[in-house]
Amino acid sequence: MGDFHTILTEIKNGVLYLTINREPSLNALNFNTLEELRTIFDEVVDNKEIKAVILTGAGEKAFVAGADIREIADLNEVNARKFAENGQEIFSMIENCNKPVIAVTNGYTLGGGCELAMACHMRIATANAKFGQPEVNLGIIPGYGGTQRLTILIGRGKANELMMTGNLIDAQEAKELGLVNHVLPTKEEAMAKAESILKTIMEKAPLAIGMIIDCVNAVYLSEENGYQTEANSFARCVKSGDYVEGTSAFLEKRKPVFRGE
Ligand code: COA
Repeated sequence: MGDFHTILTEIKNGVLYLTINREPSLNALNFNTLEELRTIFDEVVDNKEIKAVILTGAGEKAFVAGADIREIADLNEVNARKFAENGQEIFSMIENCNKPVIAVTNGYTLGGGCELAMACHMRIATANAKFGQPEVNLGIIPGYGGTQRLTILIGRGKANELMMTGNLIDAQEAKELGLVNHVLPTKEEAMAKAESILKTIMEKAPLAIGMIIDCVNAVYLSEENGYQTEANSFARCVKSGDYVEGTSAFLEKRKPVFRGE
């Protein structure tokens, strides 16, 4: 993993830690950050050292306070469409990543920040986290998939309310709505919770984990029959060494050792 200007990277115990590192701008996403995310997630897929990803924001105040408003203040119709399509493409790479990605959201998780967190497979919030899609205050709408993913996660009525009012909600309310999986008092505890979930996942068969990601994502693809995707993936599982290992280990009353092959 190379060096990046706006994202800190570190690999520890098979987990890639990504920290959006633009604290003076509350980690707002600029063009550079998005391209760095693209490069990183392109590499994550095939990098054998990386088994899972935790994505967070630098400091205590914000995960990501949105797209960088300085860069979206003078868009025209043509580059606005490109702006949205580019962000959607990169966030889809995260959503479709074959390894689990958890967002640890500390503080403001707004606009593109909320959309980024929603593209991850799970979200763990610190108690001071605040969520919202305040784009309407700027005369625009979410453009990085937020209208779709927020509706999927919390339902149409609540998604409409959040996007139309631009109101922020706190971490507890976000949990009650199903937007986040867990709320922990501090960032350290939120990171520890993410690490503990990933430790459990990393003991399972990696190919099966990747297939669960594919099948769950297939629920939301109109061009795909999710049941068919599930049956095909199930069939692919039984061709793997991990299937032989998992079933043999059970019958031999021992712990399986999965190799991802
Ligand atoms: N893009 C660019 N810069 C941003 C930003 C964003 N989305 N969000 C915050 N910043 C910058 C501020 O401009 C400020 O920079 P400055 O110190 O050079 O003036 C710095 O981050 C700190 O923000 P500030 O507004 O002073 O902090 P606050 O505690 O008073 O308010 C927020 C925090 C998050 C409520 C407020 O910054 C905000 O509303 N940000 C925009 C959120 C938004 O609309 N996101 C969707 C964008 S599409």
